[in-house]
Amino acid sequence: MSKRRIGILTGGGDCPGLNAVIRGVAKTAMTRYGMEVIGFEDGYLGLAKDRWRLLQNSDVSGILTEGGTILGTSNRDDPFRFFPREQENEEPIDVSDRCIERCRELGIETLVAIGGDGTLTIASKLAKKGLRAIGVPKTIDNDVCETDYTFGFDTAVQIVAEAIDRLHTTAMSHHRVMIVEAMGRYAGWLALHSGMAGGGDVLLLPEIPYDLDEVCRVVVERGNRGKRFSIIVISEGARPIGGQMTIKRLDPTSTDPVRLGGVANVLREQIEQETGLEARATILGHLQRGGSPTAFDRVLATRFGTMAADLAAAGESGLMTALQGADIVPVPIDKAVARQKLVPLDSPVIASARGLGTSFGDRG
Ligand code: F6P
Repeated sequence: MSKRRIGILTGGGDCPGLNAVIRGVAKTAMTRYGMEVIGFEDGYLGLAKDRWRLLQNSDVSGILTEGGTILGTSNRDDPFRFFPREQENEEPIDVSDRCIERCRELGIETLVAIGGDGTLTIASKLAKKGLRAIGVPKTIDNDVCETDYTFGFDTAVQIVAEAIDRLHTTAMSHHRVMIVEAMGRYAGWLALHSGMAGGGDVLLLPEIPYDLDEVCRVVVERGNRGKRFSIIVISEGARPIGGQMTIKRLDPTSTDPVRLGGVANVLREQIEQETGLEARATILGHLQRGGSPTAFDRVLATRFGTMAADLAAAGESGLMTALQGADIVPVPIDKAVARQKLVPLDSPVIASARGLGTSFGDRG
């Protein structure tokens, strides 16, 4: 009798902990349920182009601490709007039926899709068309609803906080305003948590449009109090009151067509002009997504992985693993991706930061 099979893929931008999830899913599927695991290469691109390999225990052994994903990823491939990349200026086509059929031919009972809102939304659509699918929420942005944290976030917070620590000493030496730009898309979780961990003086989040005059007032006032340097942590999605987000580039063929970035440079110039203080901008970019996951992310990713395998073995579909309090629970993917999880304005973390005088660039 042939073995039961599941498929697995990683989609969207990579983040630390992807390999830990792959290992968690595959080892549990193989060991606890005697299943075989097919790994699709480069996310939904591998599913659409029939690029996959049967994973062996040795493939998923020793990868817990490794950054990136052994399966590869892609953030421009959607089976419902697929660009075959065979000619220039091609129109997207719907290859979802073909993908589902191919999974059936391969004997795949369930597809485990590890990714952010784009990847999860596609998994949910495939589930509605009849392919059993389970989602695992990944992203350094922590912007997926229904889960307290996505894996990868804790590691990114650690990386940004360490960068802030390092910028602190050079800021103090040169009496400069140091602006650190964190990723996070439209959500300010990463800037908020890393900014708090690094003791930032001004935290600028997409959820709280900032007043440039207020930001300048804070850094000047710090100088008046003898603090001759300031650390500003700004989300890539932050914008001034009445202004726009800073877009780095647009990629219409991507499932996530808007790339943010560069707001720190804009702010640096404005602060120098308005205050006469010397300012420098550091855009951390993809450093925030690279390298080994923290212990917290390794545990979270592993727990997500084992639950995803359990759900797949039980024949469940349309569900996503989520962290709620101390528990890993299944939630409907549709509920998780219906909207983005932004930092609430009444966040206790914001309240705590305000309590010790941290500015959010507003007059709140
Ligand atoms: O969603 C994760 C993320 O790192 C965002 O924080 C960032 O805006 C985006 O991906 C960058 O994407 P890319 O890897 O395509 O430059």
